[in-house]
Amino acid sequence: MGKKSFKLLSTTTPEWIKTVLADFDAFLIDHASCERKANALLMSMIVKYPDRTGIIPRLIELAQEELEHFAETYAFMEKRGLSLGKDYPDPYVNQLLAVARHGRDERFIDRMLISSVIENRGAERFRIVAENMDDSDLAAFYDKLWKSEIKHSQVFMLMLQREYDAAAIDMRHRELIELEAKIVADLELRAALH
Ligand SMILES: [Fe+2]
Ligand SMILES: [Fe+2]
Repeated sequence: MGKKSFKLLSTTTPEWIKTVLADFDAFLIDHASCERKANALLMSMIVKYPDRTGIIPRLIELAQEELEHFAETYAFMEKRGLSLGKDYPDPYVNQLLAVARHGRDERFIDRMLISSVIENRGAERFRIVAENMDDSDLAAFYDKLWKSEIKHSQVFMLMLQREYDAAAIDMRHRELIELEAKIVADLELRAALH
């Protein structure tokens, strides 16, 4: 590969958007928590990799953008009288993070690849929401979001490619893309991002 852009192996089933639109309030609450967790994961990477000074500014920038997404999603929740509920584990994200290898380089490479794949799927699904949403404010919001998340997917690849050459990345990237498609195929349909 060696490129910042890549395609996932599967597209989301049409049943997913029906499930989401049937309970959009539940989707919004889950979505807000995904943005908050994306911010938290980035902040934890900043703490974990203080010596990788070449990428810290990018990680800070991404963390700021995820926090902004959280704030914007929460504003839509507020308008609908919704509040943040109990935090449920995200089966999709957790299954992916669980396969991150140990060892300094391997763990870093896997965290970046997994993050890039998660952003890519998020972009695909926000785009589907944007295309199927009647409310024009929400449609515009999700249209902006999917474009932002696809950029995040690329930024993770660029940060990784700064530090490692294609030989160290490509095979693992392919494995993780294959695994992601399997995990998505087995997900229970919920009014949630995953
Ligand atoms: Fe986001
Ligand atoms: Fe993102």
